[in-house]
Amino acid sequence: MTTLVTGATGHTGRHVVAGLKAAGVRTRVLVRDKSKAPDGVDAVHGDITDPARAAEGVDAVYLLWPFFTADGIEAAVKPFEGKKIVYLSAMSAEAGGVWGDVEAAVRHVTDDWTFLRVTGLATNALAWAPQARAGVVRAAYGQAKRSVVHERDVADMAVKALTEDHAKQIYLVTGPEAVAQAEQVRLIGEALGTPVTWEEQPPEEAVAQLGAALGTEFAESAVHYWASLVEDPEPVSLDVPRVTGHPARPFAEWAREHFS
Ligand SMILES: NC(=O)c1ccc[n+]([C@@H]2O[C@H](COP(=O)([O-])OP(=O)(O)OC[C@H]3O[C@@H](n4cnc5c(N)ncnc54)[C@H](OP(=O)(O)O)[C@@H]3O)[C@@H](O)[C@H]2O)c1
Repeated sequence: MTTLVTGATGHTGRHVVAGLKAAGVRTRVLVRDKSKAPDGVDAVHGDITDPARAAEGVDAVYLLWPFFTADGIEAAVKPFEGKKIVYLSAMSAEAGGVWGDVEAAVRHVTDDWTFLRVTGLATNALAWAPQARAGVVRAAYGQAKRSVVHERDVADMAVKALTEDHAKQIYLVTGPEAVAQAEQVRLIGEALGTPVTWEEQPPEEAVAQLGAALGTEFAESAVHYWASLVEDPEPVSLDVPRVTGHPARPFAEWAREHFS
């Protein structure tokens, strides 16, 4: 049995590789730069849009689709036909979008799929790091409450799904509670050992700032979504404890790991 990990140099993928190694699973990674590949695994150079060489002889795949559109997904998943695919998806896949399109393409090539739908990754907060180190984070909707999940919990779910039978399961993968963004920033300050405060940014300024990096359409929908989370927090799921056998890691733990 060989398992292919895509995104192995990224936040979740590196822990998926470590978890598979610990479980004694033969692991291969698909990387764009071999010098960045984790130690002790078979590294195949390539791009996720053309994974045929990396897919040869593998039985299972941890799939990440790191793009904002699903253009090219059908060709990209073709080499994984009939294999087990564990895909890092998003709660919003329900409503379609890139994640919904990738899920559909995956279902088309295999019956042995598992979708890990996250509400949000705690690693999004790394974007605040420079401001946090300077003491003030200026962003929109500090009272938006998000159940962001630690990347190690995503990886633990992925390792379970890759090594056990979780065919046709859709898991909602969240942290143990919904934490207001301003509170996340306060917890980052605790981890840094210096207070960090939240400064409310007008939504239109947030759209312009985010839009410059990720496109206006994405920025508008993200900021609109955060606004909704002030009154209606993101859900908290018990799928992490149910599948992994341990509680989901709290945001405070994530902040200590990344900021202290
Ligand atoms: N942020 C959220 O809240 C959220 C919510 C739902 C779902 N997601 C999903 O989670 C993904 C991010 O996962 P993550 O945090 O584990 O990853 P990450 O830390 O963002 O790293 C991205 C990984 O993808 C690799 N990669 C990028 N472009 C590639 C390409 N063309 N071919 C092959 N590999 C490529 C990168 O490799 P290099 O080292 O070569 O750059 C890196 O290993 C997002 O793309 C999204 O689909 C995120």
